[in-house]
Amino acid sequence: MSKNFGAKPLLFPQPVMIIGTYDAEGKANAMNAAWGGIVGPKEIIIDLSHHKTTDNLAVNPYFTVAIADAEHVIACDYVGIVSGAKEPNKMAKAGFTTRKSEFVNAPIINELPLTLECKLLEVIGGSKYLGEIVNVVAEDRILDEKGEISLQKLHPISYDPAHHGYYILGEKVGNAFKDGKELK
Ligand SMILES: Cc1cc2nc3c(=O)[nH]c(=O)nc-3n(C[C@H](O)[C@H](O)[C@H](O)COP(=O)(O)O)c2cc1C
Repeated sequence: MSKNFGAKPLLFPQPVMIIGTYDAEGKANAMNAAWGGIVGPKEIIIDLSHHKTTDNLAVNPYFTVAIADAEHVIACDYVGIVSGAKEPNKMAKAGFTTRKSEFVNAPIINELPLTLECKLLEVIGGSKYLGEIVNVVAEDRILDEKGEISLQKLHPISYDPAHHGYYILGEKVGNAFKDGKELK
């Protein structure tokens, strides 16, 4: 037996991306986005409806994508339910402080330890924001002894589109590009 759900965006896992932008005056904003992902070695697409964030991108085509982590679930959800257009103190209320990216004209949220710094290349079909990843910056505290990003230290969360939950990514169950060799 199986069940059809119809046409729904039920992909698992979905990322929780915190999109950082500046407005025309250089004021930082952030929003939560789950509909998106990597589409090339240096490319990311995020599907955005109209928000303060998209108004910002129209005047300033750069953005950051910070990975939401388990330590900041409440703040990351808050920026997904309140608009910077209505709440001028959105960032402060979230407890987020920012610094300007060294590579693009977009804010890095100091509290979130992993950030992709992006340049907007194109808006496809009116809502799919295609960005070039110009740099990735990580806080030392999420690096392993080899200086690589450690999933165990990052504690990224995933969005469950069926029940609207946030889940921490769990234990390691295999090795990519390796385990399948057993069946070669
Ligand atoms: C878990 C979650 C995922 C979301 N994903 C998206 C998304 O992929 N695209 C989108 O346009 N809005 C998404 N939103 C809604 C925006 O984050 C929300 O409307 C936000 O208040 C916009 O902020 P802004 O107006 O300050 O830019 C999501 C919200 C949550 C809580």
